[in-house]
Amino acid sequence: MDPKSRIIVALDGLKLEEACSAIEELSPYVGLFKVGFELITRQQARLVAEFAANHGVGVFYDGKFHDIPQTVENAATVIAGMSSVTMFNVHCLGGHKMMEAAKEAAVQNAVDGKGPSVIGVTILTSHDLPSLRDIKLDLNHPIMKRRGEHETDEEIMRRIVVSYACDAKAAGLDGVVASPREVKAIREECGPGFLIVTPGVRPKGTALNDQKRVMTPKEAALAGADYLVIGRPILSPETGTRIDAAKRIAEEIYLAGMSDSIPGGQASSL
Ligand code: C5P
Repeated sequence: MDPKSRIIVALDGLKLEEACSAIEELSPYVGLFKVGFELITRQQARLVAEFAANHGVGVFYDGKFHDIPQTVENAATVIAGMSSVTMFNVHCLGGHKMMEAAKEAAVQNAVDGKGPSVIGVTILTSHDLPSLRDIKLDLNHPIMKRRGEHETDEEIMRRIVVSYACDAKAAGLDGVVASPREVKAIREECGPGFLIVTPGVRPKGTALNDQKRVMTPKEAALAGADYLVIGRPILSPETGTRIDAAKRIAEEIYLAGMSDSIPGGQASSL
């Protein structure tokens, strides 16, 4: 895949006009734009998606559906009818039938023959093991139980996330959203072709903002991520223009691909 197509710009904190102007400016340099709860709640998601389509780029509709299978199927049917939406997501916690219903509706109602990719949200990265206990997920389940006294909470969380990724794959979803720290394990378990969409990406030397566990674009690409969701480092770059920031990230992804195929290649200097 072309490196720029692997960049998803998160249109966070932007009003309709600002979102459209970001799309106008960045569409030659990135592949997708993520429309989240703000634009959806303002009932502007469709307008943004149509604007993006007119500029030759797709939209990731970050609606994180989680409801009974029939209701999610209905929502997925509407999304599939929006030709400009190329990707949307559902919570894996909704279960097998719900995920299956979302994927089937996306395929059956596709306006382009294929339909949008359906991506699973595993465990939100705002959760840790104590907070999973708070919401009464069974920490005694074999997947969740600590294996040996040295296994860290992060390792257990990774195992849980990988197991949800496998559930998503079994239900026919196209991939999952995963934090950079989980990408490698998911790639190993779910194999090639299963899409991994990763937020928490920060080019070297840029502000972390409120992201805690980050990877550079190069690291995320090398770990096996297909798409990188990047908001503030592109929309509000500390130096240079938004276009400069997007181009630098695409270059880093390209070089990661080079270092993948040419050991010790140029990317090692990044
Ligand atoms: O500005 P920044 O690059 O941090 O934006 C990352 C985007 O990815 C935001 O839209 C955020 O909501 C989303 N996201 C995330 N972490 C997750 C899931 C989604 O940062 N675990």
